[in-house]
Amino acid sequence: MPQRVLFVCLGNICRSPTAHGVFADMVAAAGLASSIVVDSAGTGAWHVGEPPDQRAVQAARAGGYDISLLRARQVQQVDFQAFDFVLAMDDANLEALRQMAPAEYDGHLGLFLDFAAPGSGQREVPDPYSGGMDGFAQVLALVEDACRGLLAHVAALGHTQREG
Ligand code: 4NP
Repeated sequence: MPQRVLFVCLGNICRSPTAHGVFADMVAAAGLASSIVVDSAGTGAWHVGEPPDQRAVQAARAGGYDISLLRARQVQQVDFQAFDFVLAMDDANLEALRQMAPAEYDGHLGLFLDFAAPGSGQREVPDPYSGGMDGFAQVLALVEDACRGLLAHVAALGHTQREG
């Protein structure tokens, strides 16, 4: 069974599609595309069906990632059946997800940056929507760091399952 990872922010046009695109590329580069499924969603519905914000597309492109083909969707209750990891970009997203999650959800519901390298000192990916390009570059840097830690964690689960 593949491990299934869902990244969640507010609009699904800035932070979570960036994480979606970066993590999918890292998973593919590690040769794990058939054992790790990646998706993203927003807690809000304002941007459903839209491509990522142009500034997020541009920041991702500068890092070598193409997120332009992703389309926004809203997180749904059934996502808690479909995903082993539901990772929120900030505390407000996490609170909204906790309100939605079935009591019996036994996956990992938490903050994405819990997987970042220790010492980064940041627990939330800041919402870049109302700021400038530097905010989007910061989002990409935080996302790349946490994606590396997440990949190590999820890949290790795969080893455990194969050996067990
Ligand atoms: P995201 O950024 O949650 O990282 O996709 C935002 C996108 C849209 C809005 C807020 C944040 N908005 O208010 O429409």
